[in-house]
Amino acid sequence: MPSSRKAVSAMIGIIPSNFKGTIVDLGAGWGTLGYPVAKAFPEATVVGYELSPIPWAYSRIKQFVARRRNLTFKRKDISEVDLSTVDIVLVYLQPRAMRRLSPKLRDELKPGALVLSNSFPLPGWEQSAVYELSTHRLSTSRRVYAYEA
Ligand SMILES: C[S@@+](CC[C@H](N)C(=O)[O-])C[C@H]1O[C@@H](n2cnc3c(N)ncnc32)[C@H](O)[C@@H]1O
Repeated sequence: MPSSRKAVSAMIGIIPSNFKGTIVDLGAGWGTLGYPVAKAFPEATVVGYELSPIPWAYSRIKQFVARRRNLTFKRKDISEVDLSTVDIVLVYLQPRAMRRLSPKLRDELKPGALVLSNSFPLPGWEQSAVYELSTHRLSTSRRVYAYEA
């Protein structure tokens, strides 16, 4: 399930304007988050990692129309992604995947790196902020959690 528009806007709003570093979307799906983030931060380098072939292929094909030069999508398991040079991690993953990701983020992220998680908290981490989204009450995406490495 892709991030809601409100969650995408909230995540973009949390990132400092004119941000120029590296942003990764771990589990990029159809590019629902990656495209607007790349558009909002044209001087940043945005990389989406996705394992499932169909959403990954869709996000790549969309590049022929959307043409975001600062955005790439790679077909890769997020457990194999080197996070040591990443400034901002975006995630929207189920709790089980968040549990697996937690120690990897702890081990690899440089101090000061930002993690923004849509809907699900990151186990074992203390959040630096929680952003409440004013969405329909049936929506699953009601919060964005922020963490600093
Ligand atoms: C809830 S979707 C979020 C998509 C996008 N980040 C967004 O916010 O719209 C989660 C995605 O993570 C992908 N995913 C889950 N585990 C993964 C893994 N180990 N490696 C790569 N992608 C993974 C799923 O295939 C799915 O497309």
